[in-house]
Amino acid sequence: MLEEVKKGAVRMEELLYIEGKHIRENTIGRNKVNIDQIKLVQKTFETVRHIPEVAGLFYNHLFHLTPSLKSLFKGDMKTQGRMFMQMLDYAVTGLDKPDTIIPIMQELGKRHVGYGVKEKYYEAVGESLLWTLEQGLGKDFNQDVKETWVAAYKLLSDTMKRAAREVE
Ligand code: HEM
Repeated sequence: MLEEVKKGAVRMEELLYIEGKHIRENTIGRNKVNIDQIKLVQKTFETVRHIPEVAGLFYNHLFHLTPSLKSLFKGDMKTQGRMFMQMLDYAVTGLDKPDTIIPIMQELGKRHVGYGVKEKYYEAVGESLLWTLEQGLGKDFNQDVKETWVAAYKLLSDTMKRAAREVE
């Protein structure tokens, strides 16, 4: 996924300061989203989140991609699906208000350490999320939408991962 971000002309000006200096020092320093891209993520998510069983699609595909992740989930998957979608909705809605979502994503990332989640697992979740968006959007899932979501997911997941490192 990182390769795609590097190749894509994805710009995240509005969010660059999310990770402050750190992001600038890394390859993801180029990874910025502008306000139009934020709107694109919000609009496409609005379509997909209303699809019945969308979270089920997402988790089924995730476990298809990486069956070993299934055992990390101990609770009811319907409830889990609802919580995942709600959190994603909150994050997507707040993309243009980073101050509101950063601390939430950081705490979420830290909690995930307790669920046994390792950094490398974020890639499969990102893959499954993109695949789910593609199922939901059909032909509207074009290269622009894909690259923008890659960047947005990277931003959110990097925020979670970085915070998780503090507790590991
Ligand atoms: C943007 C990325 C992610 C979001 C928005 C997200 C969201 C959530 C939410 C809202 C919960 C409910 C519990 C809580 O709030 O602490 C949760 C639990 C959980 N998530 Fe995530 N998550 C993400 C990434 C991941 C990744 C990469 C994994 C790796 C497999 C993962 C595995 C889990 C597990 C195992 C639980 C606990 C399930 C249980 O106790 O049954 N999540 N996630």
